[in-house]
Formats: sequence, structure tokens, C-alpha cells
Amino acid sequence: MDRAIAIEVSRLTKTYDGGHVAVADLSFQVYEGEIFGLLGPNGAGKSTTLRTLITLLTPTSGSASILGHDTVRDADVVRQLIGYVPQERAIDRFLTGREHLELLGALYHLSKAEAAKRIAELLKLVELEEAADRPAKTYSGGMKRKLDIACGLLPNPKILFLDEPTLGLDVQSRLRIWDYVRMLKGRGMTIVMTTNYLDEADQLCDRLAIIDGGKIKTLGSPTELKIGLGGDIVSLTLKDQSKIPVLVSALTGQPAMRAVKATPTGLDIRVDSPEKALSAILESANRLDCRLEFIEYHRPRLDDVFIAHTGRSMTESVQDIQTGS
Ligand SMILES: Nc1ncnc2c1ncn2[C@@H]1O[C@H](COP(=O)(O)OP(=O)(O)OP(=O)(O)O)[C@@H](O)[C@H]1O
Ligand SMILES: [Mg+2]
Repeated sequence: MDRAIAIEVSRLTKTYDGGHVAVADLSFQVYEGEIFGLLGPNGAGKSTTLRTLITLLTPTSGSASILGHDTVRDADVVRQLIGYVPQERAIDRFLTGREHLELLGALYHLSKAEAAKRIAELLKLVELEEAADRPAKTYSGGMKRKLDIACGLLPNPKILFLDEPTLGLDVQSRLRIWDYVRMLKGRGMTIVMTTNYLDEADQLCDRLAIIDGGKIKTLGSPTELKIGLGGDIVSLTLKDQSKIPVLVSALTGQPAMRAVKATPTGLDIRVDSPEKALSAILESANRLDCRLEFIEYHRPRLDDVFIAHTGRSMTESVQDIQTGS
């Protein structure tokens, strides 16, 4: 299937001052009209990638183009095609929601009438009409994020970049924002978003790249990625967690086991057929006197995809950063 390409990223590398390589040799394409996600743990390089695409950062090497325009050479053109919702909100505490949008309208050189019309539409879209004339400092986290999104949409962009659109929001607000994103896609907009959340990537993105340590580990639709893993996952919870390493080594390499990994409470085993693997697993557990508290098996999920491609789970990765280990 031939699809129009909205964004072409070619061997993009960004090294920050001091020599830290934040993203290395990224290549991918985003198709017109899709929701494309960059999924990865803290520090993976998601924001850096996004900021390069929106011309805020210059690539150290490699290139990116937006609707055929190079992000360095044709930065001015690119800026007219895109909207951007940053990870850290830049909301002023004293301005009202409407005033934020009016200020941006002036920055974009919209006429007063044009700005007023678009602002009214956007406030309606993100359900902030009633709160529009209150200072933004009185908004909840979800309302602030809605205002951020309205700001990103004000230039009427062809492509919208959302950096962690629902970070830190409650479930209800996250679902509302997912609805907006789907609606924008329904209107033909191309959307590129980053996320720390597996469920968000799974449910919202048409295709996604899993990124870790500045590199793309795998790329595809959530379904493709899960099917690509092959087989099912058998998860064991052991009564005695000190037995985990023994069972891992006993099962690793057995014909029915594709991959065996220790988890905090037991093992995750990727198997071709649970029926065949289960008897072998139980036999080994018995022989080694590993008492099982719980056995569960499931079709691959996006977290299994993440583990298979990065060797660790998304939550572990986040903890690594937080504890600095
Ligand atoms: N301005 C900067 N100067 C130096 N290093 C930076 C700068 N910005 C980011 N980095 C580093 O580059 C790496 C990638 O950071 P980036 O913000 O792109 O990650 P991220 O995937 O967006 O993470 P998060 O989920 O926490 O938002 C990190 O190691 C970070 O510390
Ligand atoms: Mg980020």
C-alpha cells in the first residue's frame, strides 16, 4: 500500500553539549493522517526527537523533513505547517485561557477577527468555554493540558506534535484527551506524539516506534508488534522468590521455551504453544522444588514487546532513572 509520507527522518543523531548522545541514527517515516507514537522510558530521547522535528534543535547529523521541507534549510516553512504541545507547559499563571490564545494569535499574525473565530472554536473543542475567562492558574491539571492542546492547534497545523499529552493526568482527563486526538485524526490531521504509557501507545497510536537509549528498537502497529513476538506469554509467580534464578536457568534453552526472563515475583516465559510448554514448566518446577503461587498465560501485550526488544520492562526502566541505578 502506497501512503503519502508526512515526515521522513533519516539517520538523525543529536549530541548535546558535553557529548551526551541523546538520539543516535534514527530513521523512520510518518504517514499522512496517522497517529504516530514514540514510546519509551524517561531519558529515551523522545522529546529530543520531537524538538528536532519541530526545528527547535538542529541535528548533529542526519536530517528530517516535514511534508518535503527540510527542518534546517526550510525551517520557516516547516514552522508554518506544524503545531506543538510541549511536555512542560508554558502557561502563565495570571492570564486567562482566552488571553493565552489571543497572545499566540498575535504571535502568529492572525487578524483579530480570524483569531477570535478560531479561539472560540478551539475553546469549544477542548471544552473550556466556561472557564475561558478565568486565570489559568485556577485550572486543574487536565484543563491546563486542554489549553496546551488548544494552543498547539491555533495555527491550524497540518501536523500536530504532542509531547507526553497525558503525563500526570487522571484517568478521565486522559480519556478526554485521547478522544480529541482521535477526532483530530478524523479531520485528517497527522499526529506525532511521545508517551511513557504503554496503554496510551497501544490504544491511540496507529504505528509506533519503541525507543530506548536514543535508538529505535522496533517499529510497527501495536498489533504487528505483538504478533511479531510470536507465541504466548506464560507468567509464573513463585512462592519463594529466591528460587527464581534456578528455574530461569533450568528452563532457558528448553525446546518449548522461546525466551525466559526473571520478573520481580517470578518468570515470564515466551512460548510457542502453552499446551506443550506448560508440562515442561511444571516438571522443572517440581523437580527443583519451586512452589508456584500463580500461573497465568496471555497473548503478547505491548509491555511484552517492550521487554523483548529492550531486555527490561518499561516500569523497571523508569525506576532505573528515578533511583539513578
Ligand atoms: N538540553 C540538554 N542538554 C544535555 N542533555 C540533555 C538535554 N536535554 C536532554 N538531555 C539528555 O538527553 C537524553 C534524552 O532526553 P529527552 O528529554 O529527549 O528524553 P525523553 O525520552 O523525552 O524523556 P522523558 O520521558 O523523561 O521526557 C537524556 O539523557 C537527557 O538527560
Ligand atoms: Mg520527554
